[in-house]
Amino acid sequence: MERIQKLISRAGAASRREAEKLILAGRVTLNGRVVSELGVQADDNDEILIDGVAINRKQPRLYFLLNKPKGYLSTVRDDRGRRTVIELLPEVNEYIYPIGRLDYDTEGLLLLTNDGELMNGLLHPRYEVNKTYLAKVKGTVMGEVLQKLRTGIMLEDGITAPAEVRFLEYNEKGNWSRIQITIHEGRNRQVRRMFSAVGHDVLALKRTAFAGLTLVGVSRGKYRELTGDEVAGLRHIAGGPGKNNE
Ligand code: URA
Repeated sequence: MERIQKLISRAGAASRREAEKLILAGRVTLNGRVVSELGVQADDNDEILIDGVAINRKQPRLYFLLNKPKGYLSTVRDDRGRRTVIELLPEVNEYIYPIGRLDYDTEGLLLLTNDGELMNGLLHPRYEVNKTYLAKVKGTVMGEVLQKLRTGIMLEDGITAPAEVRFLEYNEKGNWSRIQITIHEGRNRQVRRMFSAVGHDVLALKRTAFAGLTLVGVSRGKYRELTGDEVAGLRHIAGGPGKNNE
């Protein structure tokens, strides 16, 4: 037996959080009765409907690796009509959503899937999934600042976990530096906030790697599907099947 929101997200009909909202809005039925609380459990033989439509538990799993350009939101829809990353993918019948987020002005590697379980695993802090960014920042970044970034920066939501940091280049004329940073946390605007906190505002930010996957072969605005081996690798990183239940 599993919670209904989990069965819905695993079926790819909505993310777990969205499924919770659907339940609270009274739009979900279990074996013909409206469920409006979050604790209710069911199993694979139960009939679950959203707005009267059965969730499809046998739909194919889809996994895309997108090279997101700047100027796109990492959401499925936007009330204000801004462009979203979904517009860069082929039209599919399944409900695809991004695994985590990149800021509107950040470019680079974003995974999208209808596999809610894998998404939850990859985003769970327990698995410390690595994300590598290339940051172009204002000014010359000195050794002691790099060291601070490595050990931890005090932000308003607490100190950051140790990061891997590499100084790549400095441009004297333009007065900027390029730094590679790998973190495993996923706080909102984390890399931008870390650099701002040490006095080097970010001028441009690109995610070059996520969970061992890179952008190699995928140009800006393009995508590719993941291979079976890559999906298996991600599952392994995310704790394997069934290990990331809560
Ligand atoms: N850190 C940021 O500041 N922005 C992103 O988009 C991702 C990580």
